[in-house]
Amino acid sequence: MRATPGKLGSTLIAADAIRRRVGQLAAEIEAHYTACERPLVVLCVLKGAVLFSADLVRSLTIPVEMEFISMRSYRRGTNASQAVELVKDVGTTLADRDVLLVEDIVDTGNTTASLFRHAEAMRPRSLRLVTLLDKTSRRERAVTVHWRGFEIPDHFVVGYGLDFEEQYRNLLDVRILVDA
Ligand code: IMP
Ligand code: MG
Repeated sequence: MRATPGKLGSTLIAADAIRRRVGQLAAEIEAHYTACERPLVVLCVLKGAVLFSADLVRSLTIPVEMEFISMRSYRRGTNASQAVELVKDVGTTLADRDVLLVEDIVDTGNTTASLFRHAEAMRPRSLRLVTLLDKTSRRERAVTVHWRGFEIPDHFVVGYGLDFEEQYRNLLDVRILVDA
């Protein structure tokens, strides 16, 4: 078996705290969208937000549809700003729909900013963002976070959908990765 990369450090957010917070977020989100005529489009950003989205939609009682989008971000040079490219687009038009973008983490904000630009171009009726984690201290680009689960310090974290080299997504807790 291949050795797992990095080393797992302490638990930053335990599974029960995540579960409670997801329930609170769902209640706030639901209250905001109760008057919508058409189902809310829950737009999950692959792959990190899969577990969060799955729990969130199961806590919502309003009608929802699920869509998926995938972006990749990378640095072009050591000091260059981040480039973001679309890997997989949504499977339907977002025109005139109420869209809730679901992210695992907002770090520099580059991915979220690109997603917003991409989704806005489809002329949704409304577009809002919920992110499980928010590393505000790392922001390079201003983004509006409508709902956030937890603001976290500048650590690289894994678990509950978040990966390091595709591993650790299945951890129940969010944990700090050391020596990554
Ligand atoms: P951005 O810097 O806000 O554009 O975030 C880019 C992507 O980096 C996020 O969508 C995550 O997939 C990933 N990322 C940022 N911080 C972490 C982390 O602490 N753990 C795991 N992935 C992260
Ligand atoms: Mg990743």
